[in-house]
Amino acid sequence: MQTPVSLFTSAPAASDQSASAQAEKQTVPLVDVQQPADLERESAAVISGQSVSETGLSDLAMKASTCRLCGLAETRTKVVFGTGSPTADLLFVGEAPGHDEDLKGEPFVGEAGLLLDRMLAATGMDRNQVYIMNTVKCRPPNNRDPRADEVQACRLWFDQQLELLQPKMICLLGRVAAQTVLGSDESLGTLRGRWHDYHGIPVWVTYHPGYLLRSPRQKQKSWQDLQGLLARFKVLSI
Ligand code: URA
Repeated sequence: MQTPVSLFTSAPAASDQSASAQAEKQTVPLVDVQQPADLERESAAVISGQSVSETGLSDLAMKASTCRLCGLAETRTKVVFGTGSPTADLLFVGEAPGHDEDLKGEPFVGEAGLLLDRMLAATGMDRNQVYIMNTVKCRPPNNRDPRADEVQACRLWFDQQLELLQPKMICLLGRVAAQTVLGSDESLGTLRGRWHDYHGIPVWVTYHPGYLLRSPRQKQKSWQDLQGLLARFKVLSI
């Protein structure tokens, strides 16, 4: 496929992902037997007209909003739970909220987020068709990397959120997200360009948009990564 001349610089394009692909999304039960809590959630979803993942996610977001499982609770402004479609097939995972995200309570709303929007637009998607979250939900002071104990504490939310979302594919943005989720100490360079697995979900790794802002020459490689991601995504979405 041809590289767009104005790579990641144009305004977001209108979405053309079919609604039917979303509707046809298969939900793979992660538990064999339906638990009472699942039944309760399902009935609540039917009554409210929302999908199970939608009600489940808003319940979980509510619980996470008062989380005090790690020290980041002391310094955060808002818990940044995640945003996008609760029935999205494609999940993007960043590192941790920054200054703008901490204030707004939404992931990727600063400069890096704008670039992420342009990257999505270059592939014909927008952020409402995918789901976006971070490995940790609260901003580390001075934007330092999240510590192992913080990541560990936040895994509780991360894994429950993933179970509700059941994405068909995960794209990890940047070294920290990649190493954290994959439990690897390999460099981004060696993690890119091949498929990984997280609880049976195919995982792809690419550059963090914040890094691309500092190193725009890597946008070309990032575009190649997105092509690789989309090629398999299209197959999985048929
Ligand atoms: N960088 C991230 O990794 N996540 C955000 O939400 C914003 C910037």
